[in-house]
Amino acid sequence: MKDLFEKIYADKGPLGKWADQAEGYFVFPKLEGPISNRMKFQGKDVVTWSVNDYLGLANHPEVRKVDAEAAAKYGSAYPMGARMMSGHTDLHEQLENELAAFVSKEAAYLLNFGYQGMVSTIDALVSKDDVIVYDVDTHACIIDGVRLHAGKRFVYKHNDVESIEKNLKRATRLAEKTGGGILLISEGVFGMRGEQGKLKEIVALKKEYNFRLFVDDAHGFGTLGTTGAGTGEEQGVQEDIDVYFATFAKSMASTGAFIAADKQVMDYLKYNLRSQMFAKSLQMQLVEGALKRLDMLRTMPELKNKLWENVNALQGGLKDRGFDIGTTQTCVTPVYLKGSIPEAMALVKDLRENHGVFCSIVTYPVIPKGLILLRLIPTASHTLEDVAMTLDAFSAIREKLETGVYKRLTAALVEEMGEF
Ligand SMILES: Cc1ncc(COP(=O)(O)O)c(C=O)c1O
Repeated sequence: MKDLFEKIYADKGPLGKWADQAEGYFVFPKLEGPISNRMKFQGKDVVTWSVNDYLGLANHPEVRKVDAEAAAKYGSAYPMGARMMSGHTDLHEQLENELAAFVSKEAAYLLNFGYQGMVSTIDALVSKDDVIVYDVDTHACIIDGVRLHAGKRFVYKHNDVESIEKNLKRATRLAEKTGGGILLISEGVFGMRGEQGKLKEIVALKKEYNFRLFVDDAHGFGTLGTTGAGTGEEQGVQEDIDVYFATFAKSMASTGAFIAADKQVMDYLKYNLRSQMFAKSLQMQLVEGALKRLDMLRTMPELKNKLWENVNALQGGLKDRGFDIGTTQTCVTPVYLKGSIPEAMALVKDLRENHGVFCSIVTYPVIPKGLILLRLIPTASHTLEDVAMTLDAFSAIREKLETGVYKRLTAALVEEMGEF
């Protein structure tokens, strides 16, 4: 018999195998200083395009004040225990009521982390006779939630209405046999490519098919819709989303998350969400902090306006310079370039060290071989000067990529490690 750890010693996994080349720089980088448009990376000032602080609230003085005062008042322990047992307070309830009203639902419930909350909500919504239909490009938390499902699941082609309908047909046939129902799960905004989920089209299918719609709106909440209530509001279908999810980890610049739905559904979920029944309640500092952030999100439209001014300047500038930014319809700004992984590494080093621009990099196996994806997240704290300097930096690195400068720089590495 093998020792369990044998496989771990032999292989660190698809990403872990690059640890020696990447750790501390391309993965697990340490961004230092207050969260803002400019931070420090390895002692150098960089314009930061990789923090999901969409509305610039992370380091807003009013937010910092409330966070600090709440920490001083409650410490980090209060309340102790799970919501159901000893971790329930008036402020938890107040936050839930305000969140529900903001996203036009009857009730809401707090989640400690978006990830485990999504997993747990999917788990609680379906039983073995039910069928799940979901987008192939969904976030890992949806995939993990679907993995827990004891019944059937059908995956549709990314944002493809024909494929959605085909899978709804299959799911309907099956659910009629098992006597179960159908849960369709989509993201409001797909966080890698920036496309909006086709919520309007999905909702239109409700006329023909009997299913419930669950939307993970992590990137839509606070950034889309007239009031910032998210992708459902943006597409005019918020009412038709049966269960709405958003995290506090992006526009709210904090930790925690919530789900919202009709009162009867929420009453069921709060008694059946294992991640909340068997885990400590969201701490008070986060609850008070979220109330403050929600208030700012509702009453300071200038934050979202500034965000979109920056988004439009960045995306417009990239397009004007001939960059491929794919099909984004949101703040998420992907830039697609052609090159190998070593070229991508050299290019990102050049961006960070010589141009003072820090953004995330995605390569194979997350995207097809030969493609480099640089992902930029504009925020309200960026300036048009940040945008201008970043556009110039991108033009400079594209020129070097196309003229083979990075290829030559990494030739020795490729010789040593082989093509990768
Ligand atoms: C689409 C999506 N869903 C869920 C989550 C998880 O949320 P959290 O960070 O609150 O665990 C994220 C990432 O933050 C996300 O991008």
